[in-house]
Amino acid sequence: MASLDIPTARVFVPLLEPARYKGAWGGRGSGKSHFFAELLVEEAIRRQGLRAVCIREVQKSLKESAKKLIEDKIQQHGVGAGFEILNDQIKTPGGGVVIFQGMQDHTAESIKSLEGFDVAWVEEAQTLSATSLKLLRPTIRKEGSELWFSWNPRRHVDPVDELLRSKQPTNAVVVRANWSDNPWFPAVLEQERQDCLNTEPDQYDHIWEGGYIRVATGAYFAKHIAEARLQKRIGRVPRDPYLPVKLFCDIGGTGAKSDAFSIWAAQFVGHEIRVLNYYEAVGQELGHHLAWMRQQGYGPENAEIVLPHDGRQHDKVYKVSYQSAFKQAGYKVTVVPNQGAGAAAARIEEVRKRFPSIWINEDTCGPGLDALGWYHEKRDESRGIGLGPEHDWSSHGADAFGLMCVAYKPPTTTAKQLKYKIRRPRDRSIGY
Ligand SMILES: Nc1ncnc2c1ncn2[C@@H]1O[C@H](COP(=O)(O)OP(=O)(O)OP(=O)(O)O)[C@@H](O)[C@H]1O
Ligand SMILES: [Mg+2]
Repeated sequence: MASLDIPTARVFVPLLEPARYKGAWGGRGSGKSHFFAELLVEEAIRRQGLRAVCIREVQKSLKESAKKLIEDKIQQHGVGAGFEILNDQIKTPGGGVVIFQGMQDHTAESIKSLEGFDVAWVEEAQTLSATSLKLLRPTIRKEGSELWFSWNPRRHVDPVDELLRSKQPTNAVVVRANWSDNPWFPAVLEQERQDCLNTEPDQYDHIWEGGYIRVATGAYFAKHIAEARLQKRIGRVPRDPYLPVKLFCDIGGTGAKSDAFSIWAAQFVGHEIRVLNYYEAVGQELGHHLAWMRQQGYGPENAEIVLPHDGRQHDKVYKVSYQSAFKQAGYKVTVVPNQGAGAAAARIEEVRKRFPSIWINEDTCGPGLDALGWYHEKRDESRGIGLGPEHDWSSHGADAFGLMCVAYKPPTTTAKQLKYKIRRPRDRSIGY
């Protein structure tokens, strides 16, 4: 066979060398799919008998798979003679094969059929569930086997982002690719990009530059966050050293190890709520939370704790123990009374009402802002009705923020009352 000469965009060059994990993430039209499709064709020629699987989380039909793209690449590079295109798979040189599967169709048993595979390429990997990733990683176990991931990031908590961006396993090569890195970026997409910039500036960073979704469509606080940004109320918010810091907590559910504990640190200054900090921990003991508070300078001498009390019996027991534990650590603890039925809706309303007077320190509140932007209504699409807040990774942070707004009381003492209060003891000759 004649030599194969595939030009590669500079941004993907690090992915040409062997690595256990290869990842390319970024915005629309950066050439991620084309690059991996070409790499697969190249590998199939280089490593005779290569067995590869192209994976998506959900694959209802082959039309959704990378099959057509790989066929086009085989054609484009004139190497069709070595390949045989079948209905549901592609035979590769030396008796190899490329198959196309959805992870959702696999069970712990059926996934074993992939054990002898050399390459697994997960397309649109942002939708890959934690379970799928857990099944896939040990399955692709052959000597020299590789796992490839291409994705447009949504949230920092998505399993692929945690695997390849937050932590990174041994022998991983990960690149960020955007439209500006694509030498073949087509004119139609350039037009789309320009239009997005003009008509959906909120979404642009996520769609085209690979940024996380900060504001989900249909989210409860989308408009409020966008407004706060425009009015520069999300930025640098300093702590007032003379005022106490209030720590608004959400304890998550009960018992389960995966509970998220969220804290918003804020100060009430006149008619403003100044949000200084955000903390979130999953599956950690109380000591971990206390250590964070102390490390941030929120000790019992200058900070107080506010806990929710939503009245559910099992939560009550759980929360009471938090209350006493924080008290034991020396903190003043306030428990906000049970909001009763419709508590979640009331909290949302309160947040919306308060938002115009809220300032948020951006550098320390990033994950909290992500949660607020993402918190959204669960919908029954077939009936077209809302089902209340979606309970997911964002709801604990949003609940604690709601608690803060519910607990906020605007100053009621007017100038006139103040004068009266000062004068009265004097009139009655009470010393003070
Ligand atoms: N190697 C290449 N050869 C020829 N054209 C390419 C190549 N890479 C990218 N392109 C062009 O750029 C466009 C975008 O590339 P591609 O679809 O791979 O991007 P992507 O990052 O997967 O985008 P999305 O996030 O939308 O899936 C393609 O439709 C194609 O026109
Ligand atoms: Mg793609």
